[in-house]
Amino acid sequence: TKIFAYAIREDEQPFVKEWEKAHPEVEVEFTDKLLTPETASLAKGADGAVVYQQLDYTAETLQALADNGITKMSLRNVGIDNIDMAKAKELGFQITNVPVYSPNAIAEHAAIQAARILRQDKRMDEKMAKRDLRWAPTIGREVRDQVVGVVGTGHIGQVFMQIMEGFGAKVIAYDIFKNPKLEEKGYYVDSLDDLYKQADVISLHVPDVPANVHMINDDTIAEMKDGVVIVNVSRGPLVDTQAVVRGLDSGKVFGYVMDTYEGEVGVFNEDWQGKEFPDAHLADLIDRPNVLVTPHTAFYTTHAVRNMVVKAFDNNLALVEGNEPETPVEVK
Ligand code: COI
Repeated sequence: TKIFAYAIREDEQPFVKEWEKAHPEVEVEFTDKLLTPETASLAKGADGAVVYQQLDYTAETLQALADNGITKMSLRNVGIDNIDMAKAKELGFQITNVPVYSPNAIAEHAAIQAARILRQDKRMDEKMAKRDLRWAPTIGREVRDQVVGVVGTGHIGQVFMQIMEGFGAKVIAYDIFKNPKLEEKGYYVDSLDDLYKQADVISLHVPDVPANVHMINDDTIAEMKDGVVIVNVSRGPLVDTQAVVRGLDSGKVFGYVMDTYEGEVGVFNEDWQGKEFPDAHLADLIDRPNVLVTPHTAFYTTHAVRNMVVKAFDNNLALVEGNEPETPVEVK
């Protein structure tokens, strides 16, 4: 049995080797290259492929992989929005993802950044750097005084709720799929509009499906409370970023936590030092004192990365051995 892995970063290599050691019967080969029509042949002879990339898995890419004899593909991440599913179905692909590698990684990041916005930490840091040690006007808001609205109560949303409750916040939630335990405890409001109207901090934990695209826009921001904090550690397309910028400019939006961004592909996780920065809107956001930009790193912890690698290889081995993988993706 042979498994070929694409786009293995240096920080993933120890976990690949750990898995390989635990599975001496499996031959493991990997590259740091992304899966593209050009690199598909690298996997020739393997029984399955382990992949991760934000680049689209296009019809051409899937076709090229299938032409090299591989239709068992295991993602190391959760999001499946960049796969041409119709083509995958046509080619008979079996796909797995890792939906739960560490909800805490993402939820913690969201909570930490939201709290930093509330305390105006970036402004205070900038003052420190200038040796301006005065308190005012950089006064904070306590988390316990906020109503925190959580959009999406899957694994990540639930951990985020627990953390914010730990700080003493009042937590409300919205989801089209209601979790019975949360429903029993009365967390859910009836509509997204209700959540937007009541929450001081709004955090998104929903997938990038068509119905959610630009759910944060001029109209929904207008419904929100003055001084709202918006958190997007989920997917860039959920937010009309320029609408948030207008909200920041008017003062309606107190702060924005942005770990994911509509224009992030090809920009995040690249070194732009000494080069022309490719996105003026992004540069503006990074420079704002009440915006905390991180380059899609909410997930990026040792705990998460290890699980992403190990679970993806486990899934792929199950596929190639004809067993039921732990977390199959519905190819439809
Ligand atoms: C995912 O797991 O889908 C993520 O968003 C993290 C990924 C970019 C590594």
